[in-house]
Amino acid sequence: MDGLHPRMARFVGEVEALMARETAVDAILSGVAALAAPLAENRDWLEPRFYAADEDQGFGISILHQAPEHGLLVETIAWLPGRGVAPHDHQTWGVVVGLDGAETNVDWRRLDDGATAGFADLEVAAETVAGPGDCVLLRPDDIHSVRNDGAATALSLHVYGRTLAHMARSEFDPIAKVQRPCPQRVRR
Ligand SMILES: [Fe+2]
Repeated sequence: MDGLHPRMARFVGEVEALMARETAVDAILSGVAALAAPLAENRDWLEPRFYAADEDQGFGISILHQAPEHGLLVETIAWLPGRGVAPHDHQTWGVVVGLDGAETNVDWRRLDDGATAGFADLEVAAETVAGPGDCVLLRPDDIHSVRNDGAATALSLHVYGRTLAHMARSEFDPIAKVQRPCPQRVRR
């Protein structure tokens, strides 16, 4: 973990220990959220480069830790004002913790049974605004979208049980009722 702030390095170690002793998704989600809380309270580990975003993508991902064998992934995401990401799943558990600004998280409910390839019928289940210290817990099949309604870049910490780039994830278009492979994100 070269280059990681000591408190971030400690967090990574604590999450790996939690994952080694716990297999139940709900227990991992609540455990990771508790471990991440101090990182939202004291943000001295943040670096200006974490705020850099990809204009085409609408957000910028900075990888902090990526375990071997496509395991634990820890990253920050900087959301440009007025931008966001289409509904998608993760196919692993995820914990999002607000750090700076506020991001609107939309949870989607699936109405169809998933039996028709490429088709998905979604409706909004809940919409929450996550500010500093607020947590969003994501189960592997949960579908969510994110947007930044604020005037400044919003920053959040993202922790996932598996490296997302290697997961067969889906993206959804709720208006066209389409399910398709999730595009690969630009990460650095
Ligand atoms: Fe997501």
